[in-house]
Order: sequence, then C-alpha cells, then structure tokens
Amino acid sequence: MLATLAPILEGRRSQPHLLIEVLHDIQKDFGGISPEAIKVVSTELGVPLMEVYRVVKFYKAFTLVPKGKNVLTLCMGTACHVRGSNPLLELALEMLNIRAGETTPDNLFTVEAVNCVGACALAPVVIHNGVYHPHMTPAKLQELIRGLQKESQEAKDA
Ligand code: FES
Repeated sequence: MLATLAPILEGRRSQPHLLIEVLHDIQKDFGGISPEAIKVVSTELGVPLMEVYRVVKFYKAFTLVPKGKNVLTLCMGTACHVRGSNPLLELALEMLNIRAGETTPDNLFTVEAVNCVGACALAPVVIHNGVYHPHMTPAKLQELIRGLQKESQEAKDA
C-alpha cells in the first residue's frame, strides 16, 4: 500500500497541515480511504491515528469503504419522494442486486439513497458521479444503468 500511496505522499511527508489535501487525493485515486491507508498517512504525515480517523469520518467527501466506479445517488427527499423516487431506488437496487449503500461485487456501481440534494424543482433527481439527471423516470434510469454496464463491458472487451 505504501508504494501505491508514494506518489501522493511525495513532497508532503511530515507536513500534518496537508492532511485533508492528501486524503482528498487518496479518495479520488482509490475511491475510498482504507484502514491501511489511514495508518500510512498517520505515520508519514505525523498526524495521530485517531485524528486521521476523525477527519475521515467527519467529512462526507471521504469514505472508509471504496465506492464503485459509478456512484448513483438517488434523492429520497420529500419532493423526490412525491414524484416517485422510491420505485426508482427499488429499480436500481433490483437491477444491480444490491442494497442501498452497497457496491456491486465488480465495483462498477454504488447506489446511495440520500436526503434532499437541493434541486427539488428537478425532482425526482438521480446524480451519477456528480452529474444531475433531472425528472428521472424508471425507463431513463434503466437506460442509464444499462448504458453504463454496456460501456464497461465494451471497455473490457477492447
Ligand atoms: S427532495 Fe430531492 S432534490 Fe429536494
């Protein structure tokens, strides 16, 4: 693990004030911050282990469990609920055979159910890797998921 983190830690060792910057880079490159990575960061930056854990747990941008390549975030807030977010969530979970908050075994998808994402006029909203998909319907969601599955399969076959 240290070898894979080496490029991120390069020039940042023994600089505890760079903790968040380093964690952001690990999150971006690895999809999450493993307990092993936390230990390495603690040692290399000189930040107590508990402090690194506290920061990782505090900020929503960081996750201990790596997320899938495609993160589907379904808003379950009131406006989205009224406009059909529940059937959308059920559809996504059924298609991917996982539960909310889980990642598919091939690490291709993570499905998250969250509260209002602040775009109620666009309800129901699904966010795919940070891109908002407004006025989502079951047919559009099915198309989105199938398209991403196809894209991944084509990349594997290439
Ligand atoms: S309830 Fe979904 S964006 Fe506000």
